[in-house]
Amino acid sequence: MSLNYKSYWRKTGLKGKWGNIFLERLSTYNPKKVLEIGVFCGVTARNTCDFLSKTNGKNFNYIGVDLFGSDQNEHKDEIEPTFLKDQKFSNPLKNIYYNYILKENLNSINSVSKLLKKYSSNIRLIAGDTNRVLKELDLQNIDFTFLDGGHSYQTVINDLTILYDSLKDKKKVILCDDYGKESYIPEVEKAINDFTKKNNLKLNIIENRFAEIIT
Ligand SMILES: C[S@@+](CC[C@H](N)C(=O)[O-])C[C@H]1O[C@@H](n2cnc3c(N)ncnc32)[C@H](O)[C@@H]1O
Repeated sequence: MSLNYKSYWRKTGLKGKWGNIFLERLSTYNPKKVLEIGVFCGVTARNTCDFLSKTNGKNFNYIGVDLFGSDQNEHKDEIEPTFLKDQKFSNPLKNIYYNYILKENLNSINSVSKLLKKYSSNIRLIAGDTNRVLKELDLQNIDFTFLDGGHSYQTVINDLTILYDSLKDKKKVILCDDYGKESYIPEVEKAINDFTKKNNLKLNIIENRFAEIIT
């Protein structure tokens, strides 16, 4: 199957070649149930659903968790995309379209739901800080997680700990962004290294950017 990550005229964390590299990881494992932590404007969510629908027909699930504008727990040290503050676009046409015509915040649950409308019966979007909401979710059947939400040491440790509690020894995939030098966040790297060392887990580094953990 040819993999073609589309931007849907929105902002994405996976620009250029990175979107297709992400889709290749999905294609390697062929999951049915995918969790994305950190949905942002929903572009990776939409591409994931496009992929899952092609490979599984109607038999797939996507769960996306993001602050979606809600308050963070007690962590004010997250590295949020600066774009979220006032939705600035370098493309003036996008600025007019989204900020003046649609007046739409692309990192809102409404906007992402609209982008995923075609898959409404397969998706679930959750607004909240993963430090609070992740432990309330049933993660037992998640095959593939894209961990790309809060980037502080404490949040990454929280998210990995909760995921691993449910997924331990099940050979499921946790793909973490911002580990390698192509998109490096020191706190993320340290949290992933400490977590995998403590739990004796191997790390597979993808293209000097993603860290992949098999549970
Ligand atoms: C880098 S962006 C995600 C990019 C997205 N995965 C993509 O491929 O386009 C990080 C997102 O994580 C969200 N986020 C930050 N801290 C969070 C937290 N503690 N809990 C839930 N979401 C969080 C932000 O609101 C932001 O939308």
